[in-house]
Amino acid sequence: MQEALRKMEEAARQRIVKAADSAELKEIKVQYLGKKGEITRILRGMGQLDPKERPVVGNIANQVKENLVQALRDREEILKDEARQAEYTRESLDVTLPGVPLRQGHPHPITLVMEEVKGIFMGMGFRVEDGPELETDYYNFAALNIPRDHPARDMQDSFYLTEDLLLRTHTSPVQARVMEKMVPELPIRVIVPGKVYRRDDDATHSFMFHQVEGLAVDQKISLSDLKGTLLSFARQMFGPGQKIRLRPSYFPFTEPSAEVDISCVMCKGRGCRVCGSTGWLEILGAGMVHPRVFRMSGYDPEAVTGFAFGMGVERVAMLKYGIDDLRMFYVNDLRMLRQFR
Ligand code: PHE
Repeated sequence: MQEALRKMEEAARQRIVKAADSAELKEIKVQYLGKKGEITRILRGMGQLDPKERPVVGNIANQVKENLVQALRDREEILKDEARQAEYTRESLDVTLPGVPLRQGHPHPITLVMEEVKGIFMGMGFRVEDGPELETDYYNFAALNIPRDHPARDMQDSFYLTEDLLLRTHTSPVQARVMEKMVPELPIRVIVPGKVYRRDDDATHSFMFHQVEGLAVDQKISLSDLKGTLLSFARQMFGPGQKIRLRPSYFPFTEPSAEVDISCVMCKGRGCRVCGSTGWLEILGAGMVHPRVFRMSGYDPEAVTGFAFGMGVERVAMLKYGIDDLRMFYVNDLRMLRQFR
């Protein structure tokens, strides 16, 4: 009888460890431990046993019962674990899967160059100022010694909103605005980056472009200060070997006036297609502040002097990055823009 119990236990165990779900476990439980189960059946035969043997067999039967209950519980646990594990696997994220990349924006090359220009002049003690893009006739022209009907207005045809309001054609009106605000204080050292507008529509001009204006006013500021400042800028912007040259020119608000060239960044001054074989590239207009401009904004031209310049940012950016078509800055061609990440 003991043997029969042990064999039965072994058989039951084998089925338990192979059971696939709790339904099957229940079936096994009923089959072995239930009221009509196999253990019960075996124990029913106890009556035929020697009374001395009965407690021994009873003990074993109880042990087998306990063992099977335990084995069933263990298997139930394992099945639960496996089910939980399977659910995790189903629900979990695969963190090694490459994500959907977020496209990140970045500054436009014009912004980059403008920031660099700002940084260079700030390093020389200039402060950044701002002015309105919608400007009055007075600041855009009159305060700069360009009265109505002056032929110099033809150089800068603009977009008028009214007789008196226009989109500024240059950043120079901020010269007058800054001086009016500062007078009588000295020194003035400002740069003014910003957008300007002109009625140009050919391939090498845009109706909107960017300038950086510079203005320095103090006692005894001379043309050599202007030249030294611009030379230092050119070398920081384009490299230590840079040269500059001033060519006589005309602006109503400076006297004397000059166009300022830098030695050609492509051929280093030897002469090439970009500089038209001259070895020089024009990047800005400049000059000494005109006495009339000082007087209109409240400074005494006998007591102070100053220089001013206006730089074309697109031009500088084209030279810096070797871009040969101005329109590349405005057509939003990502193949070009992404190179400035
Ligand atoms: N405002 C002038 C232009 O746009 C440039 C300039 C600025 C010239 C300051 C002299 C002094 O053409």
